[in-house]
Amino acid sequence: MTFPQLSPMQTTNPELPWHRVGRLDELAKRELQSLTVGGREVALSCKHGKFGAIAGRCPHAGGPLGDGVLEGESIQCPWHGWSFNRCDGASSRGYPVAVASFELKEEGGDLWVRFDTATPAKTPQHEPHALTRPVRREPGPVRVFGISTTGMDAESPRYSTSEDLLDVALGHARESLGCETKLINLSELKFKHCEGYYSKAAPACTWPCTLTQMDDEDELEPVYEALVHWADVVLVATPIRWGAASSLYFKMAERMNCIQNQLTLNDVALIQNKVASFIITGGQDNVQGVAGQMLAFFSELGFTFPQFPFVAHSRGWTAEDMENNVRFVQTDEHLREGARELVTRAVTTAAALLAAGEQGKRVARGGSKASAAKA
Ligand code: FES
Repeated sequence: MTFPQLSPMQTTNPELPWHRVGRLDELAKRELQSLTVGGREVALSCKHGKFGAIAGRCPHAGGPLGDGVLEGESIQCPWHGWSFNRCDGASSRGYPVAVASFELKEEGGDLWVRFDTATPAKTPQHEPHALTRPVRREPGPVRVFGISTTGMDAESPRYSTSEDLLDVALGHARESLGCETKLINLSELKFKHCEGYYSKAAPACTWPCTLTQMDDEDELEPVYEALVHWADVVLVATPIRWGAASSLYFKMAERMNCIQNQLTLNDVALIQNKVASFIITGGQDNVQGVAGQMLAFFSELGFTFPQFPFVAHSRGWTAEDMENNVRFVQTDEHLREGARELVTRAVTTAAALLAAGEQGKRVARGGSKASAAKA
């Protein structure tokens, strides 16, 4: 994502219409490159001896077009794949969006560009995504959002110990604590894996998640909506799979990088004074490892925790009689009471934060990095 500056010898007077780009033979060695000329970022391409110059930043989220991929006559943005004609800047997919394109001339073995005759850019015309609205806590009772992360065959659902205890907790919150509750089973949503835009550049990981913005079939939006805009308490239930939380949990967690990334990029904490708690059950062991990972991740999102923020159950490494495990969870009153007490602690903590008027207040830059430095 670098836009090399021309050397002082190459710099031209910004008042003049034509700016020298460089030697033709040198520039022709690369099909596509990012350059800064006369203070402007340019995506310069050269194909079959014909140069093209368009604005260097993608109108979607600012991706460096000159670092993208040249396919035919199109430059594909390296961040999320928007595509523009390398010479006239028009959308290659016929969308009403374009980047400016610049006039070029070849003279004395040099390439020259001018910006005063640029074709106009067209920025996307659409309403901001609903998730981008300011986070404002609407009046009402404490709201508890349960997320079940167990994998499940929708055609023939089986009994899930973690989901059962989550149901117990949500029922208690609703019926005994007067809360509003909402449950989402991740296994019922079709959503994509994080595609790792963050790995290209921190600003490429956008809020809302780029996949949510660009893929109409991705179904994770209700989770973002409930987590960021609705809930006071988030209760996550997971089974233990080979000593770790479920793969669906991690699939969701990866997609939440965009929430945490707002701290990195813009010093914006989307999660303010909300409470998270966890229900962890499994035939196998490693409750502490699973809880530790979940606590660390949710703390980095900005969540607060009640005292004793998780309940868990496991029968250990050697227990293979899973039918007994199921029977145990179904009938053990201590576990069910534990789930009820967990949500009571979480709701009490959330109510205290609400009563203190803490919702919506800005917190100091959070996260383990605790640094104001931008990425
Ligand atoms: S497609 Fe270019 S920044 Fe997203």
